[in-house]
Amino acid sequence: MTAPARPAIIHLESQRASVVLGFEHDSASILYWGPALPALGDEADLLAVLDDGQSWGEVDFPERPGVWREGAGGFLGAPTIAGHRSGLAWSPRFVVLDMQRDGQSVTVTANDEAAGLQVASRLTLDPSGVLFVSHALTNTGDTDYTVDAVTTWLPVPDRVTETLDFTGRWLKERQPQRRPIGVGVWSREEREGRTGHNATIVEIALTEGTTFSRGEAWAVGLMWSGNSRHLVERTPFGRTSMGAGELLLPGEVILAPGETYEAPAVAAACSDSGLDGVTAAYVDWQRSRPHHPTNIRPRPLTLNVWEAVWFDHDLGRLTDLMDVAQEIGIERFVLDDGWFHLRRDDHAGLGDWWVDPDVWPEGLGDLIARVQSRGMEFGLWFEPEMVNVDSDLYRAHPDWILHMDGRMPPEQRFQQVLDLTHPEAWQYLFDSMNALLSEYDIAYIKWDHNRVLIEPGHLGRAAVREQTLAFYRLVDALKAAHPGLEIESCSSGGGRIDLGVVEHADRFWTSDSNEALERQGIQRWTGMAVAPELLGTHIGPTTSHPTARTHSLGFRAVTALFGHAGIEWDITTTTPGEREHLREWADYYKANRALFHSGRVVRADDIDPAAVVYGVVAQDGSRAAYAYAQVATAGTSKPANLLLPGLDPAGVYRVRMQQFGEPARTLQGPQPSWAEGVELSGAVLAQAGLRPPRLFPENAVLIEVERNG
Ligand code: GLA
Repeated sequence: MTAPARPAIIHLESQRASVVLGFEHDSASILYWGPALPALGDEADLLAVLDDGQSWGEVDFPERPGVWREGAGGFLGAPTIAGHRSGLAWSPRFVVLDMQRDGQSVTVTANDEAAGLQVASRLTLDPSGVLFVSHALTNTGDTDYTVDAVTTWLPVPDRVTETLDFTGRWLKERQPQRRPIGVGVWSREEREGRTGHNATIVEIALTEGTTFSRGEAWAVGLMWSGNSRHLVERTPFGRTSMGAGELLLPGEVILAPGETYEAPAVAAACSDSGLDGVTAAYVDWQRSRPHHPTNIRPRPLTLNVWEAVWFDHDLGRLTDLMDVAQEIGIERFVLDDGWFHLRRDDHAGLGDWWVDPDVWPEGLGDLIARVQSRGMEFGLWFEPEMVNVDSDLYRAHPDWILHMDGRMPPEQRFQQVLDLTHPEAWQYLFDSMNALLSEYDIAYIKWDHNRVLIEPGHLGRAAVREQTLAFYRLVDALKAAHPGLEIESCSSGGGRIDLGVVEHADRFWTSDSNEALERQGIQRWTGMAVAPELLGTHIGPTTSHPTARTHSLGFRAVTALFGHAGIEWDITTTTPGEREHLREWADYYKANRALFHSGRVVRADDIDPAAVVYGVVAQDGSRAAYAYAQVATAGTSKPANLLLPGLDPAGVYRVRMQQFGEPARTLQGPQPSWAEGVELSGAVLAQAGLRPPRLFPENAVLIEVERNG
């Protein structure tokens, strides 16, 4: 290997973002990460102007944290690599050995011979503007090395003033929280052993007053479905950074000589055009992948039977549901929990992945044939990583549970976690699921995970990392064995949505709350970094199970359009009128899903706290669809104008209101004059806007926009 000529500058470029690395004094630094720099000027000068120099009260040489933020260089913030060799080799000082550039990707290899460590750090700037950064740490010494943490850090400008991230719980995922940035570390940690309902997906740093359409934003998101940490750090000296990394439990990673720890990558995005710019980068990256589901086929309109039948599986009742589903135009019928051995309620059966002979004496063949003869494909629910103590699996292999010696974790929903790091347990799952997928024509799996991991030990060692990798391997192996199989990641709703599992799953169950008012916020903020076509959005029952609120079909229908749409409601109880409206909505979804699943996501800046406006705009600006939703009682009797962002300012557009079901309830007589159709320019629609309908709270309308000149 050869050391790079120094000083040297590497500029990774995309239309949206730039990353500049500097090599100097055998180290490497990220000099810049932010909106695209069309040119750099003199490279040596760039290194010089970014030199902090020396100041009284600091170390006697210019301290530059470098990519690895070593304390050895005088840096006193959190390092990239934390670990030790039985108490030694805890303060590495890496020397760059090699740097390889390949297009918009660079790999820097460095080592510390005395510490016996080598690190390979890779930065790749995707054409979407998403920057992927990963570190692989190798133990080149001759004794074990304990890894405590490998955190990916990126510099952000000191002008950022606020963080934005997301918190949540079951039925209320992704609630935004904005906080001022002060000196110190703001750390969002997840220790559930899965991504978690409270996981932020991305941590964002903002300049003063950044909104959806204006201001600057920098976001980092860990590509990982286990324990995680997202950080923002401002040192007392004034430098600000964002970090993310796997949260390792004590002793979870101990590298034997020659072994490598591949830290989960970070996907980072920045914007100088508000939060919508961050979303655009993440969504464009996801859509550019060949395996992105809409690059394979349109997203089928789904009926999930969970909120219709719960555990009560009966062929006659399911056939009645299918008949109505066919009438509405459903394309995928999903049999949820309750079909397998012993599973009459949530006390038993998890682990016994064969069709229950008492409920389905002839197997699922007849059911699937009925589904398919009605023009739908079939999907099936699994919760592969879970075991009820009342199961044949547990009775045969009580040791296949993640636990600590001498004690079992407390149960949650009467279940324990199968130890997927046990090769036989992994193989058992693969074989039983593979057998079902081979016997039956199953197009889709809803893959659930309904508990947190408590004391997740394998032979005494913490095993979240290995469990997470085994989960990815299992999903990938089943998909490889059954090409075309789609997998939805569900975890009591939105408990396993992150930028890592997006590479393995084809859909996310956004929340167990199907309730349209709750969904306004949950979908908006989960969609910050996840393409809408990956988010399951279903019309729930008229009166919601989690909140007991009653909503019109129109409100529920508009809300469910902005994602991968479906229904999760006992549609056999619907009136003929409701079915007719559902059919119209289904037709609309099918005719327009290409727009909803490829358009740019835009969110109007909230000018009225009681209403939200959001939409999708075709990439060529030719069409758009927006929702106007009243989420609370309007504060004024004349609500603020409804602005439609994202259209071509010079284009002329035909605008009309579209409703499903009974018209939205309003406080006014006739609808606004534009409801039946007007022609206005994109500039007028974005800046002057329309007088909104005066909606009752918890009502919404759809606004269709088509270019006419
Ligand atoms: C979890 C899921 C639900 C449903 C039930 C079945 O709660 O999030 O959608 O599948 O399990 O038990």
